[in-house]
Amino acid sequence: MKILVTGGAGFIGCNFVYYMLDKHTDYKIVCLDSLTYAGNLRSLEKAMENPNFKFIKGSISDKELVNKVFEEEQFDIVVNFAAESHVDRSIENPFIFLETNVMGTACLLDASKKYGVKRFHQVSTDEVYGDLPLDRPDLFFTEDLPLTASSPYSASKASADLLTLAFHRTYGLPVTVSRCSNNYGPYQFPEKLIPLMIVRAQENQSLPVYGQGLNVRDWLYVDDHCKAIDMIIHNGKVGEVYNVGGHNEKRNIDVVKTILSQLGKPEELITYVKDRAGHDLRYAIDPTKISDELGWHPETAFDDGMKKTIQWYLDNTAWTDEIKSGEYAEYSKRIYG
Ligand SMILES: NC(=O)c1ccc[n+]([C@@H]2O[C@H](COP(=O)([O-])OP(=O)(O)OC[C@H]3O[C@@H](n4cnc5c(N)ncnc54)[C@H](O)[C@@H]3O)[C@@H](O)[C@H]2O)c1
Repeated sequence: MKILVTGGAGFIGCNFVYYMLDKHTDYKIVCLDSLTYAGNLRSLEKAMENPNFKFIKGSISDKELVNKVFEEEQFDIVVNFAAESHVDRSIENPFIFLETNVMGTACLLDASKKYGVKRFHQVSTDEVYGDLPLDRPDLFFTEDLPLTASSPYSASKASADLLTLAFHRTYGLPVTVSRCSNNYGPYQFPEKLIPLMIVRAQENQSLPVYGQGLNVRDWLYVDDHCKAIDMIIHNGKVGEVYNVGGHNEKRNIDVVKTILSQLGKPEELITYVKDRAGHDLRYAIDPTKISDELGWHPETAFDDGMKKTIQWYLDNTAWTDEIKSGEYAEYSKRIYG
């Protein structure tokens, strides 16, 4: 079995590479990643030592390159993680989000059709459902809800979902889509809430919290997401969408306070800043379908996952220091030109 993992130098992609190399020791994994600011070859250092792993630098939007790679490698399965993924950046500049998240996905779908890929899996997000009100804890995102994205990021991801499903309906391409809640764990770029707060708290810097920090996110440890994707690509029904989430809703402010308490830092570091434009209030996934059909259940409790995550950042300050100083860009240039 040969799998193309796009965006494998990013947070979830690299965790997925390690999960798959470990779980399926006879699979070949090829990673295609253009190494944007969010992609870091250091994260794949250990995978590079595995003869079953290969890294190719390139963009999923580069049609010629994508076709060449598909022709040479003859993939059985494609798992598309590659994306511009930060909502704040999409508010500043939506266009790169359309280029990568929509046009890039289109290039991959087209090549998957042309080269007879047996499964194309689109890694999507719960953000395509828009948000839920804070005062209706009885409401959850189910797969049949209409897509009502709020940010340019989520609108681009919703477009990619629709395109993926259209390739199934129109051309019969065997696709699946997963829509997951917020992930946390090792190797997450320190612009996202949890690593941002860990890294800043370690240095006794102020911790910027949007609005009053009351927005609710449904947190899932990254390995549980990887396990769900592994189950879907092997046993999920073609043409179907699966929601992935662990019923683990937390207010942002409570997540930040957990980090401070685990690091032994004072809550005075918290600074409330002007709210994000269009800020979604609450995300909450109903994972009944994937649990019933595929037997998926999250295995990592939030407290344990947070302890592991914080410890990883404490043990890997060189990784974050490099990102902060921009040295990792030099590193990839040195290795791949
Ligand atoms: N992080 C979350 O909480 C979360 C939750 C649900 C879904 N998702 C989805 O999972 C996927 C991965 O998210 P992440 O948090 O790991 O993102 P990330 O930003 O950490 O990583 C994205 C990776 O994609 C690569 N990339 C960007 N543009 C590319 C292009 N044109 N061609 C090839 N590679 C390119 C980057 O270099 C990087 O390695 C995304 O599709 C995201 O929408 C993320």
